[in-house]
Amino acid sequence: MRTINDVTITEIALDQMSSTPNPRLKQVMAAAVKHLHAFAREVDLTPEEWLEGIRFLTAVGQTCTPYRQEFVLLSDTMGLSSLVNSLHDKRATGEGTQSSLLGPFYRQDAPKLELGQSIVAAKSAGQEIALYGRVVDSDGRGIPHASVEVWQPDETGNYDLQNHDPSVMDLRGHFHADPEGRYHVRTILPCGYKVPMDGPVGDLLRAQERPGARPAHIHFLIGAPGYSEVVTALYLAGDPSIESDTVFGVSDSLVVEPKRDPGSPLPELPSIRYDFTLAAAKDGFSGRVGADPSQITKNGR
Ligand code: BEZ
Ligand code: FE
Repeated sequence: MRTINDVTITEIALDQMSSTPNPRLKQVMAAAVKHLHAFAREVDLTPEEWLEGIRFLTAVGQTCTPYRQEFVLLSDTMGLSSLVNSLHDKRATGEGTQSSLLGPFYRQDAPKLELGQSIVAAKSAGQEIALYGRVVDSDGRGIPHASVEVWQPDETGNYDLQNHDPSVMDLRGHFHADPEGRYHVRTILPCGYKVPMDGPVGDLLRAQERPGARPAHIHFLIGAPGYSEVVTALYLAGDPSIESDTVFGVSDSLVVEPKRDPGSPLPELPSIRYDFTLAAAKDGFSGRVGADPSQITKNGR
């Protein structure tokens, strides 16, 4: 006979799960159970609090739709998505550009544009800027014809997706770098915005007195055959939320400032110069990080 109590339950549960044939599932579930039990012991979790947690997670699930992934938002706002990205960056074969969250607004079918074209498809009152630089390998050599996808919110913080019609997203483009790996793009200055605050994650953020802000940023997905994709974003210096991004996407190496630049291919515009570094791919793993699974399913990836 055995006694189940607050100490013995962990080993007893792990023992029963030890039959798992898949070694990675066995490792992940054993660690999850150990840490969950340790968490419950540390806070001396009560049945009412456990039930409240179940209610919260149920509401998170019920808020998900084909266009909204509240679980990803929960992961983002707890720093888990950012941690998974950092672990992924560490596994790369060489030095690459720091990754940042893909976010829920990525769409696979961005319009194909020529270098120098604007990603702004609709009339906009935003301040025009240029983005330019190179896509290079870990040794600084240009990667010819690298794929550069760019998307961002407008000058009011909207991605134009509020009507749930992805085809009307006006600020995105898919470019290919030139034979030396150079790219240049016209766009407008984006504005920061709040993560969706009308669901259970918003309720939690309010309970924590967190404003839910994301600083102004421009998203990039950069890739080339034989290289690990980089999913990242550039953040605008001076944004009031730069130090308090709700989803922990900002690192110093990703903070930029548009300036007059005679060396820009579009010198008439305030320009941001940024070189992206791709590490060589490992074992055919694409390295896409931070994706919103609802969008992956929707786009058939
Ligand atoms: C975004 O950058 O678009 C984003 C990322 C995480 C949560 C919400 C929005
Ligand atoms: Fe974004």
